[in-house]
Amino acid sequence: MGFDFQHNTPRILCAPGALSRLGEVTQGASRVLVVLDPAFAGGAVEARARAALGAAAVFVHAVPNHEPTAESVTACALALRESGAGALVAIGGGSVLDTAKAARGLAANPGPLADLLGPGREGMAAHASIFIAMPSTAGTGSEVSDSAIVDMPGTIYKAVMRAPHLAPAVALLDAEITLTAPAHVTAASGYDALTHAVEAATSRASSPLTEPLALDAVATLARHLPRAVAAPDDLAAREACLVASTQAGIAFNSAHLGLAHAVAGALGALHHVPHGLANAIALPWTMAFNAGHYGPEREARLAAALSAERVPLGLARLRAKVGLDRGLDEFVPDAAARDRLAEAAMTSGQVAMNPRPAALADMRALLEAMRHPLDGAEPRWPSA
Ligand SMILES: [Fe+2]
Repeated sequence: MGFDFQHNTPRILCAPGALSRLGEVTQGASRVLVVLDPAFAGGAVEARARAALGAAAVFVHAVPNHEPTAESVTACALALRESGAGALVAIGGGSVLDTAKAARGLAANPGPLADLLGPGREGMAAHASIFIAMPSTAGTGSEVSDSAIVDMPGTIYKAVMRAPHLAPAVALLDAEITLTAPAHVTAASGYDALTHAVEAATSRASSPLTEPLALDAVATLARHLPRAVAAPDDLAAREACLVASTQAGIAFNSAHLGLAHAVAGALGALHHVPHGLANAIALPWTMAFNAGHYGPEREARLAAALSAERVPLGLARLRAKVGLDRGLDEFVPDAAARDRLAEAAMTSGQVAMNPRPAALADMRALLEAMRHPLDGAEPRWPSA
């Protein structure tokens, strides 16, 4: 069958307190730009980052804590150019990491930003800075992926900037900086990571190099995400989720995703539904739709990773357990708007990666099915 495995983050360093090793991983750069989640600006994380970087001139740029926009990426690229930094450290959630990633792309090229988005941009110039990514949520997997999502005004779908050299040189996993994430953020970002893992494990591009990582991530998240949500101070549960998110990121960077992310991309662009929550609304249903279409052995392995009799049941139970059992009606109650949403979702490149071919009529039927919460019950697809 063949595969194309790409992994472009040569170093992944995981340890509680790894923040204090920033000086080592920036390889003595004399100027460092720290791109920070505003929640950390002026606080202990910033102070520890400054202390770790010691003699280097440190420039701090806080970016808004929502999906990267043309404005936030452009401002960050300007800060990078003006600082003359030889190293860029991004500390924050996936949006902060993606803003910094896209800003490096923009800072190294004449622009405009729109010319760097979409497929076939791998040839764009690379920025000379060393890029270190420290995720503060688990997460988007952006710390090990080649791509950044950018919210461009007036579009029906999130744009992607992708090139191998955009991947961070170092992913620094320090669970201590995830301890302050509120429960609803932990739940939503964890379900995003779970969706990466489930969709990577079952996509058409899944391979022997990605499936084991994806399945291990599913098993870890099924076990530890409810604990990390219920007991935010549990460092071991936090670290398990953080590592699983990185595993899922490595897997989906090559295996790509599926219908849940197609829906989540459109829900984010058109209705500003937070990404992890959008995945939680979609995934149990898209995997009910996919049942019987990705091989009985793989399906059995995935169900076992979820400790459930069947995959959709495991996904529905898990989303209820972490407080994400919501319905689409809450955000898109209008039938005409759901129609537009179906059309937007079908423009996603992830549709073609889904194990079961899906047409617009299938997408419409899926969105209808997603309208109401499941209360932990198994979603069943009639033709499965
Ligand atoms: Fe995602």
